[in-house]
Amino acid sequence: MKNKVIAIVLAAAAAVSVAACGTSGTDTASSAAASSAETTSAASAEESTVSSAAAESAASETSTAESTSSEAAIDLSGSKYLSDGVMTVALNSTFPPFEYVGDGTDTFDAITSNENNVTGFDVAMVNEIGKRLGVDVEIDDMDFDGIIAALGTKADVAATGMTITDERKEAVNFSDPYYDATQAVLVKNDSTVATLDDLKACTSVGCQLGTTGETVANDNGLAVNSVKSFNQAVVDLENGKNDAVVIDQIPGEAFTKQYTDLKLLPGSDFNFETEQYGIAMPKDDEVMLNAINSALQAMKDDGTYDQLLDQYVNNYEAE
Ligand code: ARG
Repeated sequence: MKNKVIAIVLAAAAAVSVAACGTSGTDTASSAAASSAETTSAASAEESTVSSAAAESAASETSTAESTSSEAAIDLSGSKYLSDGVMTVALNSTFPPFEYVGDGTDTFDAITSNENNVTGFDVAMVNEIGKRLGVDVEIDDMDFDGIIAALGTKADVAATGMTITDERKEAVNFSDPYYDATQAVLVKNDSTVATLDDLKACTSVGCQLGTTGETVANDNGLAVNSVKSFNQAVVDLENGKNDAVVIDQIPGEAFTKQYTDLKLLPGSDFNFETEQYGIAMPKDDEVMLNAINSALQAMKDDGTYDQLLDQYVNNYEAE
């Protein structure tokens, strides 16, 4: 079906819009989109800390180990998924600077398994949450479109720049939001694409399967070419198979650092809406949800969150 759509659009586009979507147009020199994402201040739970949550939890559960110091980890004995002392984290490592395959030099003290040496902000964040909750963290790198289905079976949580949406909320719980985002458009430096109409005239717009970018592209009637990974979508842009790629703003910027012949057009040029990232997890574990929210809030309160943001997002350099 995808091919048919592309063929029809190809035929139509050939007649009307070669210039807007070709790779030989003059460079419109639109300046690189400046990062506008800001950290999200969680609306609720401003006072809940790991230790207060631990106290609450200890009071309501028969705790196996009494907290003896203020540093004691939260009581997770009532958590369906974390009581075994391990938090398995699903992610898709084609999303720099939130998660990408690193060279193995970044070390994370709570992470006991990380087959592909995945690094990035989300990895650092779950490492920090693991430390605060007193659990080991295992990283499981998988296709993005399989992640929600993996929750509760293959993985306990997903930390992968996942946008909180009403549709996903029917299947999973989300932590408090941890990052504001928006979709944006990657094109070659010499592309003349500038408006939504130009994008609609493109014969192939790359997306990652199962993402909100794919939804936005479909909703706008674009000639969507969905693939399993953002790396592939960007390679297809590089080799001329795609005319554009719909991708989250910050990862889009990261790819322009890796591929200097690409530029990023901000989502505001196309009326794309604001999104927020959350950690996704199965619905049947309120203890885990509260524990993760408490750890997240404590990280924000004591400056750790901002420090990790600086280290991994604001100072990201392509490897
Ligand atoms: N924010 C988008 C979404 O939730 C894209 C996330 C893609 N993440 C990834 N690790 N590839 O659908």
